[in-house]
Amino acid sequence: MTLRRFPILMTAFALGCLAQAPPQPPPGPGGPPAGPGAPPANAGGLRPLSAIPVPRPSNLGKYVRDERALVALGKALYWDMQVGSDGKTACATCHFHAGADHRSQNQLADPLAPFVLNATLGPDDFPFHKLADPNDNRSRVLANSTARAGSAGVPRRSLTGFVPGRPADDGFDLADAPSFSLNGANLRQVTGRNAPSVIDAVFNFRNFWDGRASNIFTGMTPFGESDARPNAVVSVNGGLVAEQVRVDNSSLASQAVGPVVNSVEMAYEGRTWPKVARRLLGARPLAMQRVSPTDSVLGQFANPAGPGLSGPATYAMLVQSAFQPAYWNSTQSVDGFGQAEFNFALFFGLAVQAYESTLISGNTRFDRFLGGDGTALNPQEQAGLALFRGRAACATCHGGPETTQASVRNSQRVDLVVGRNPGLDVGFFRTGATPIAQDIGLGGLDDFGRLLSIAATRDSAALPAAQGAFKSPALRNVEFTGPYFHNGGQATLEQVIDFYSRGGDFPTPNNPTGVRRLNLNAGERASLVALLKSMSDDRVRFERAPFDHPELCVPVGAAETAPGVVRIQTADPRFTLSAADKWVGFPPTGAQGSSVPLQTFDEMLRGIGNDGSRAHAMTGACRIFP
Ligand code: HEC
Ligand code: HEC
Repeated sequence: MTLRRFPILMTAFALGCLAQAPPQPPPGPGGPPAGPGAPPANAGGLRPLSAIPVPRPSNLGKYVRDERALVALGKALYWDMQVGSDGKTACATCHFHAGADHRSQNQLADPLAPFVLNATLGPDDFPFHKLADPNDNRSRVLANSTARAGSAGVPRRSLTGFVPGRPADDGFDLADAPSFSLNGANLRQVTGRNAPSVIDAVFNFRNFWDGRASNIFTGMTPFGESDARPNAVVSVNGGLVAEQVRVDNSSLASQAVGPVVNSVEMAYEGRTWPKVARRLLGARPLAMQRVSPTDSVLGQFANPAGPGLSGPATYAMLVQSAFQPAYWNSTQSVDGFGQAEFNFALFFGLAVQAYESTLISGNTRFDRFLGGDGTALNPQEQAGLALFRGRAACATCHGGPETTQASVRNSQRVDLVVGRNPGLDVGFFRTGATPIAQDIGLGGLDDFGRLLSIAATRDSAALPAAQGAFKSPALRNVEFTGPYFHNGGQATLEQVIDFYSRGGDFPTPNNPTGVRRLNLNAGERASLVALLKSMSDDRVRFERAPFDHPELCVPVGAAETAPGVVRIQTADPRFTLSAADKWVGFPPTGAQGSSVPLQTFDEMLRGIGNDGSRAHAMTGACRIFP
């Protein structure tokens, strides 16, 4: 992590935002719930998602002058493969499918044990923890894998330079044995956790499985107030002044500035934000990818003749339309970089967050039922809902309109912090999907060495409860977002329900916020699965606005000429260790979406939908990298 070396000349907190804490009801154990008529969230007070406002920063206007331009910039950046150092990796590479990733080859990582590199996952690989009796977590363990079904990012490389405006950085391959080297050929590295969906993530108080993307965005790293550096420069009376950034309700902005400089996900080692900026500001947005003229956000800029946006010729132009001139109009430089280059992480975070804040999927049958339409759910789904809020107690952790306790709204409810959920961060639970030692989750530290757990920061006695706890995810569109859990260890919703029915795989004693054994019968399990499938939004299913998108190609492992033997790519002589990628492509959709529904993960594992009856079947040719 590089530290700024220029002096803070003046602190300019126009809005006095450092003094602002999130609004909180009066403290006190046993006190009344927040606000009159607030539903008992722990008891499953379910209302449609439309019942609650979309969280947004209170001081956005300090930085942003045009929110429509901001969303357009965010959507372009999110889908643009030029953002990765290799010029082939976008945010969307790991979040293209209902906001998540359902690729099956080269998606495994395991920091703890050897695993099959470049593996293609199949139905028999799941669940990762196989029991003789799936209803009994004390029955014989037939197989246990410490691997994670993660997401493939970039090969391990070192950055040497770049040409502004070009789609990729310069660099060279670094040896990557034993991690992702297959007989001397480097594969793309894979993340150690499964990629959650970005859809509805704006309602999460903190993001990432372990909550490390802070609700307070400080402009350059995900870690909120741990990062006390002045991460922006603002022009004041012709001079540049270093300034701390502090934007509330912004865990998505905090999140977004992580992957771009992460050397597993998108970056060559040595990449920094100003370098990202210098290459991208002069680049044409989505230069390699086609955009539908009816795209709900970018259609107005679509290039009728081919790929790339044709309205704003460069990212710099989009930045200038979206942000206040005081953040980009100076001609002075900082550490050898221009003002807009220095402030680019701030721009990137706020823009991507603004786009993701439009990805809200409250148009489900589940929501219509909760909104008062008694016919929107069939009797089986209604039985599932009764279990969800009743005996199966799903709503204890997936309650409220957001279907997660980890919501912005709940974080402001002191009764949940000190009352019903003592000693653990709101919305985080240890359900026992993996042993604590395999992934410490909320019990870990951020990159500045601070505890991730808010409860443990206040009182170290809370630390044991945070270990192995993960954010309770929102549930809309789970039909499409398999594999499930932080380790991606379950392929189907049936497997997830079996997991809950048996009381988790690695139950821990003295865990008041864990899951209990439910002993659900077959009919009950089927109704819970039916309920979960009623939580899909057809606009997600058919990739309609706001879930329409530009063209995208994603890498799906490397071709093997013999078992365990892959070819080194020859197209680019700089990269002498990299395996040749296989690619699949998805055409752009416009606001009207696709005529066929998304393929589920399970369908993909079984080859269902490869006949064209599903969108995102992993069989489409990639036009960009043929
Ligand atoms: C190489 C794959 C990969 C790329 C590229 C990637 N992500 Fe992710 N994303 C992940 C994984 C894996 C996680 C979960 C990591 C964790 O929680 O520790 C994640 C988590 C997230 C989350 C948190 C959701 C939640 O509920 O906690 C959001 C939002 C997100 N990513 C958005 C983005 C954006 C925006 C970009 C581009 C700037 C991006 N991702 C790039 C793999 C990727
Ligand atoms: C004690 C809290 C708790 C209870 C009770 C609970 N969940 Fe969860 N749920 C979580 C947490 C935490 C995770 C993430 C766990 C992990 O990845 O390790 C999760 C994950 C999930 C997922 C996977 C989502 C994804 O994107 O990977 C589904 C589906 C789900 N729960 C459904 C349910 C259903 C249905 C019930 C009731 C039968 C239920 N949950 C009960 C806390 C809970």
